[in-house]
Amino acid sequence: MKRESFDITYIRKFAPRRFDCFDFIPSVGASGGILVLWNSAIFTGTVLDKQSFGMTVSFSSVHNNDVWKLTTVYGPCDEPARTNFINWFRDHDIDDLDNWIFLGDFNFYRSLSNRNKPGGNLSDTLVFNDAIGHLGLVELPLKGRAFTWSNMQSNPLLEQLDWFFTSPNWTLDFPNTEVLPMAKITSDHIPCKITIKIFKDTKGKSIPLLRTFG
Ligand SMILES: *[C@@H]1O[C@H](CO)[C@@H](O)[C@H](O)[C@H]1NC(C)=O
Ligand SMILES: *[C@@H]1O[C@H](CO)[C@@H](O)[C@H](O)[C@H]1NC(C)=O
Repeated sequence: MKRESFDITYIRKFAPRRFDCFDFIPSVGASGGILVLWNSAIFTGTVLDKQSFGMTVSFSSVHNNDVWKLTTVYGPCDEPARTNFINWFRDHDIDDLDNWIFLGDFNFYRSLSNRNKPGGNLSDTLVFNDAIGHLGLVELPLKGRAFTWSNMQSNPLLEQLDWFFTSPNWTLDFPNTEVLPMAKITSDHIPCKITIKIFKDTKGKSIPLLRTFG
């Protein structure tokens, strides 16, 4: 979010009133910054972990006590923070029963084809994929878009730096989880919306229960 602090007055300028709980990680200069905002009438949130590059919140549904975890990240570009970040990510302990979603700007790509230009760092892709494999995470594909970031130059460098992963159990409990790119507004990143559809109305239409914006 690239802001040093948030208060409820500022949040009211862009979020509906029902989003009444939040926590954040401040930006440092022009990089970093994470805001997690939720509706306490639907979920009780408990912050489990807060680092300069990521935050984990456990949500418990007030309707049925289902518990799921969200880890949202903003991967640093420079060493040694970058290595600290990937080690922190790799060290998460994911239980078979956990419904856990990881998302955000990792500042890593998985393959050299996640760039529109030649070059790129192959050993970087190995470091990232090793962490994903070690955690056993499942990638949620971004529908209809290959890249999420642009360096905003004419003839731009485009890369996929934003990623969405779930624990294996998530794919069983919430099989209809979709990531959709939204219209680009002002950032060098594409905003993305995750919709998790878990039940159907009387006409058989899926109802989105939960939305996450990254
Ligand atoms: C997935 O997690 C739920 C509880 O959150 C559990 O009841 C279920 O057995 C788990 N499924 C698997 C395959 O582990
Ligand atoms: C390529 O990635 C590796 C592993 O992340 C890193 O140690 C190395 O410095 C990178 N090389 C360049 C030229 O950025």
